[in-house]
Amino acid sequence: MNLESSNTADRFVRADWSAYATAYDLLSEHNPEYQILLQGFEDFLATIKTPQLIYDIGGGTGNYTEIAARACPDSEIRFVEPDAGMIRSAQSKLADHRNIEYDTLALEDIDAPGTADLIICVHALYAMPAQEQRLADLRRLLRPGGWLYLIDLGRYMNVTDWRGYLFSSLRKELGLVGALRVFWNGREIATQNKAILKAQKSGVYWTHTEAEIASVTAAAGFEIVKQQTVYRGYSDLLLCRAIP
Ligand SMILES: C[S@@+](CC[C@H](N)C(=O)[O-])C[C@H]1O[C@@H](n2cnc3c(N)ncnc32)[C@H](O)[C@@H]1O
Repeated sequence: MNLESSNTADRFVRADWSAYATAYDLLSEHNPEYQILLQGFEDFLATIKTPQLIYDIGGGTGNYTEIAARACPDSEIRFVEPDAGMIRSAQSKLADHRNIEYDTLALEDIDAPGTADLIICVHALYAMPAQEQRLADLRRLLRPGGWLYLIDLGRYMNVTDWRGYLFSSLRKELGLVGALRVFWNGREIATQNKAILKAQKSGVYWTHTEAEIASVTAAAGFEIVKQQTVYRGYSDLLLCRAIP
């Protein structure tokens, strides 16, 4: 487990999120496992008291914020995303919602009081430097008892396995020609997934077991209400509350 990588040379083995942004939604729309995660978040939102202040950290192209904005139209949503390409995609997708404030910031650069009722952080923690400190940042932004909805990629991104899975589900949905077309248009995804794998293998991106992420999350001041392996075994979902 590498929790401390932040060297400037590291950026050469990181994913290029702006390049990823161009094709991210194309494949996400056709990835049943991604859609299951979105549905799970929507279901979770329906079970809790409406959160007044919501953060989406590393919100990417805005898919989780879109659900929150629809389900909680009177809440204040802060969309935090350091990558210019990703945040542009999100702003264009979410243009009709008036309750979203955008910050082109990394989690580690947010200076705000601990008043959030809900933080969404999906598939972003592994790409940040120093996860113990980032989890402490998330705890600091929440009010006591506030919710953290955390999903994180923990295992090596097996590009061949994902390619096979996506191609076979696309083929069922769109036929061979349709599947080939989506694969061609979304070819940047494969490039960026390879970059993620390389960064994981070199220790620049964090990999973890279920037990490891549970242990660092609890140590940062969270009660883990529910934990589940998701995304075909690659990721962990943790529903947590900030301990007063
Ligand atoms: C795989 S995308 C996930 C996007 C979105 N949460 C989703 O699940 O669709 C990972 C995102 O984490 C963002 N990210 C990387 N480092 C970050 C940091 N230090 N603070 C906040 N976000 C970060 C990237 O810019 C990227 O948009």
